[in-house]
Amino acid sequence: MKGEAFAGRKVLITGGLGFIGSNLARRLVDLGAEVVLVDSLIPEYGGNLFNIAGIKDRVQVNISDVRDKHGMRHLVQGQDYLFNLAGQTSHMDSMQDPDTDLDINCRAQLSILEACRHHNPRIKVVFASTRQMYGKAEYLPVDEKHLLRPVDVNGINKMAGEWYHILYNNVYELRACALRLTNTIGPRMRIKDARQTFLGVWVRLLLEGKPFEVWGGEQLRDFTYLDDAVDAFLLAAASEDANGQVFNLGCEQVIGLKDLADLLVEVNGGGRYELHPFPPARKRIDIGDYYADYSRIRSVLQWEPKVSLREGLSRTMAFYRDNLAHYL
Ligand SMILES: NC(=O)c1ccc[n+]([C@@H]2O[C@H](COP(=O)([O-])OP(=O)(O)OC[C@H]3O[C@@H](n4cnc5c(N)ncnc54)[C@H](O)[C@@H]3O)[C@@H](O)[C@H]2O)c1
Repeated sequence: MKGEAFAGRKVLITGGLGFIGSNLARRLVDLGAEVVLVDSLIPEYGGNLFNIAGIKDRVQVNISDVRDKHGMRHLVQGQDYLFNLAGQTSHMDSMQDPDTDLDINCRAQLSILEACRHHNPRIKVVFASTRQMYGKAEYLPVDEKHLLRPVDVNGINKMAGEWYHILYNNVYELRACALRLTNTIGPRMRIKDARQTFLGVWVRLLLEGKPFEVWGGEQLRDFTYLDDAVDAFLLAAASEDANGQVFNLGCEQVIGLKDLADLLVEVNGGGRYELHPFPPARKRIDIGDYYADYSRIRSVLQWEPKVSLREGLSRTMAFYRDNLAHYL
């Protein structure tokens, strides 16, 4: 990744104390950017002050909520780039408390874009979108032309949030694009529970010497390692060809959940899991098999995932072995 695009540039990251946002911040300060992190630190979400251990003196942290229009209007001013990652990520929570998901993942996105349009129309915005909006795949691998038919409230709100970005690009020439992330794994993800990813709680239980649960076991999934996801955000921000586009991220290796559990146990050097049927409330919003066709981002931005699943799991376990106490 060439760093010239970011040296000395001003960057705002919403959700900047979360998993992906904090790792993006690490990369950006190394590239010489002036980084401001906005995060509400709502305890049920993935934000964690330990995520910026080692860089806390090199970033500015603003504990605030993206639902605060006035705060965001001030924060977007003077920024060159906005990495818009703040989000409610739990699919189950979005079903139990749909209003909060609507407010953060949809309504706040519109007001952030309004703040940019009125107060900083030269900013470039990269939005963290999700594969969840495709719903149950009609064909595999899923490309960006696949029908959008979300199976939960979170998928619908993220879809609207994404499309506001594309609309503002197309109508107001506010440069914006979106990355439809698949399961992203790596250091600093939430492992306390399964709110961000089921893999998080697997990692926690393994390190605590307890069995973890695998539901179903046959579903196919793809996983992007964090460093590869960060590369994609930087490439999308730096390229004018990305404007107005949505891009799937993905990986080379597609894997069933039971095989993933076996691989994780092997990488850990031991551990146990139990196979269970999907709990009915989860089954109702499960998307079944999914893996992405990421040829669009490969051809437009020359993005390629570089870290294998085994290596990604191994780096992740090593991080949590050393830092578990900060994530419980
Ligand atoms: N991790 C994945 O596998 C994955 C997959 C698809 C999409 N995404 C998207 O990527 C983005 C980042 O996800 P992540 O995995 O880093 O999750 P995360 O929960 O670690 O990060 C999100 C951050 O946003 C913050 N936040 C939430 N609501 C906020 C609000 N109202 N105001 C200010 N801050 C708020 C949280 O405190 C958290 O730090 C999210 O928008 C998510 O939907 C992630």
